[in-house]
Formats: sequence, C-alpha cells, structure tokens
Amino acid sequence: MNPLLNLHSNAAVPDPPDPADAASRRALVRELRSHVPPRRFAHSLGVALESVELARLWGVDQDRAWLAGLLHDCAKGIVTERQVETCDALGVALDAETRAAPPVVHAFLGAYLARVVYGVRDEAVLRAISLHTVGGPGMTTLDKIVYLSDSTESGRDFPGVGALRDESRRSLDGALRLCVEAQLRRLAMKGAAAHPGTARLARDLGVSLA
Ligand SMILES: [Fe+2]
Ligand SMILES: [Fe+2]
Repeated sequence: MNPLLNLHSNAAVPDPPDPADAASRRALVRELRSHVPPRRFAHSLGVALESVELARLWGVDQDRAWLAGLLHDCAKGIVTERQVETCDALGVALDAETRAAPPVVHAFLGAYLARVVYGVRDEAVLRAISLHTVGGPGMTTLDKIVYLSDSTESGRDFPGVGALRDESRRSLDGALRLCVEAQLRRLAMKGAAAHPGTARLARDLGVSLA
C-alpha cells in the first residue's frame, strides 16, 4: 500500500523544508522519489527546473518556484481512482465539479500533501500546486509559471511544445492562452465541459469558450 494512504488528518506536520539549503532540497527530492513512480519523479524534476528558469526570467523567487514545481504532482503516487476517496478520508474539501473530474483532483490533494507530508507552509507555493491543472482567475506569476512548466519542461514532447516554450519566454499570458485554447479544444473533442477554474481562467485571458 502506498504510505501516503496511511495518513490521517491529525498527523504531525514535519518541519518546513528550506529550498535555499542544499541538504533540505536533497531530503525533499528523496522523499518525493519514495512516493511517486519513476516517470512522474523525472517529470517533477523537469517541472522544478523549468519553473526556476521561468522564475528567473519573470522575476519570481526561484526557490519558491523550485519547491512548487518539484511537488506539483506529489499526489500522483495515489491512483486516480482513489483520489476522491483519499480527499474525503483526509478532509480535503472538493467542489462538485472537481469531484466529477478525477484527473484534476491530484492538484488539490497535492497541495494538502505538500503541507502535511513535506512540511510546506508557504501559501503561495501551496496555491500554485492546487492551481496547476485547472488554473483559476487572478493567477499570480508563480501560479502561471508552475502551470506552464507542467507543459514546457524538457521531457515534454508534443506538437507545438517548442512554440509554447518560446512563447513562455516572451509572454506568460500569451503562453497561458495557447495552453488554455489547446485544453478547450481537447475537451470539445471529447464533448466534455471545462472545469469552472479553467473557464474562469479562459475568461480572464480573453479566450472564447465557444
Ligand atoms: Fe499534475
Ligand atoms: Fe505534472
């Protein structure tokens, strides 16, 4: 059984990590490696590096970006089918639209696990983790960086990824627009509605939902 499933809501929260300290970073990386499959671990390292690069370009604290990027998928060690029940067991609140979209639940569960398993107290980091799949209105630069890095990290290889990487270096909102448009196209092909967070982000960016 995944040790994350042994958690309960009154478990002791560990000391906060210090991403500016090399030993603390190494300990965090080791902890993450023990909880997620190897491919997810490699992706997480890629998102951490990409987040640092975008943070450097866009004037955001690089340690915060590294931490949020590293842990954004920390709940992926729990299979999608068990995400909602795990949230219920731990007292992680989910709205009806999120409960109906199991693949996005890991972002909200991830923010919870980042706090109770990894000790993160930085609300800006926890928020960026919770917004990395569906986004939302009024996203901070850090939120946008982690959201985009999930698609532009060096391990990603899909048609258009190069153009998306280039745009993320020119305009964060321009790159977000490309991401959201692609997401809405994928949902439309499946006949699925956009999550309210994505719909609000699309409206913020002036992307048509039609
Ligand atoms: Fe994710
Ligand atoms: Fe991811």
